[in-house]
Amino acid sequence: MQNILVTGANGQLGQAIQLIAGSYPDFNFIYTDYQELDITSSAAITGFFSGQAIHACINCAAYTAVDKAESEEEKAFKLNFEAALNLAEACQQHNAQLVHISTDYVFDGKYYRPYTEQDEPNPQSIYGASKLRGEAAALGTNPDTIVIRTAWLYSQFGVNFVKRMKELMQERPSLNVVFDQAGTPTYAVDLARAVLHILQYRQQHPDAAIGGVYHYSNEGVTSWYDFAVTIKELTGAACEVLPITTDQYPTPAQRPPYSVLNKQKIKETFGIQVPYWKNSLKACLQQLNGM
Ligand SMILES: NC(=O)c1ccc[n+]([C@@H]2O[C@H](COP(=O)([O-])OP(=O)(O)OC[C@H]3O[C@@H](n4cnc5c(N)ncnc54)[C@H](OP(=O)(O)O)[C@@H]3O)[C@@H](O)[C@H]2O)c1
Repeated sequence: MQNILVTGANGQLGQAIQLIAGSYPDFNFIYTDYQELDITSSAAITGFFSGQAIHACINCAAYTAVDKAESEEEKAFKLNFEAALNLAEACQQHNAQLVHISTDYVFDGKYYRPYTEQDEPNPQSIYGASKLRGEAAALGTNPDTIVIRTAWLYSQFGVNFVKRMKELMQERPSLNVVFDQAGTPTYAVDLARAVLHILQYRQQHPDAAIGGVYHYSNEGVTSWYDFAVTIKELTGAACEVLPITTDQYPTPAQRPPYSVLNKQKIKETFGIQVPYWKNSLKACLQQLNGM
């Protein structure tokens, strides 16, 4: 039995892991959010790792308020960079596998072809810069760290685009959504499965050199506008969805215009199968309808 520490366990990814945890009987999950383990406190982390055997840690905690980060740089870096460093140090010291989650927003989105792990990051926002610094700190401290960059995360949990669109489509006759930003949505439950698949792989291949950066989103490509239209179609909402440009919807943080992730590496290394984004959206909406 392996003890798996999950930080930020009340967030979207953390709750998705809790949802599917029962299918992984070899893992004993220890769920923490900042009340139980504030990962910005290195003393708290040291105490936590000294108190029990931790075989792996999935860091689901992050500062994820992309626009707010523009005016809260210090807070964003504390959680997305310093805390990642704290966890990487503890995992290194205790020989625990760290899985750290990052973002497509490390890229500037100007290549207009799916980004590989070898492509040069160039974040355009404080959030993206803080996440990139966190990746580098975690990998620099502990080269065994597995960094998974994901994108456009949504689920039946927390606050996200799918839940917000679904609500707004019931309240409003029409909605404007940007059509000139392309990417791929990611259902947090699919990402949770991928993470646990990787930890199973690690358990079976304890000596494999698998540290590094990996990209994971669902399959396919879409725009926020097409994503919203699909939500409308699948929910049967009467609301009209209208395409607008990014210029017509200014936000404090700049987003990459194209941030599709190439997932070849994660698929080939771990044998992970990636669901198509529309099928996963259907699965999430079914869960939301059942609530
Ligand atoms: N959401 C997206 O669209 C998206 C896209 C690409 C990548 N990602 C990445 O995917 C990962 C998971 O994202 P998510 O959407 O699941 O995040 P989330 O829902 O915002 O969850 C983050 C969790 O961390 C907790 N937390 C905050 N400060 C903490 C601290 N000091 N110590 C421990 N826990 C703390 C939060 O609590 P409070 O809510 O109370 O603050 C929250 O429960 C993150 O690394 C994120 O950067 C997300």
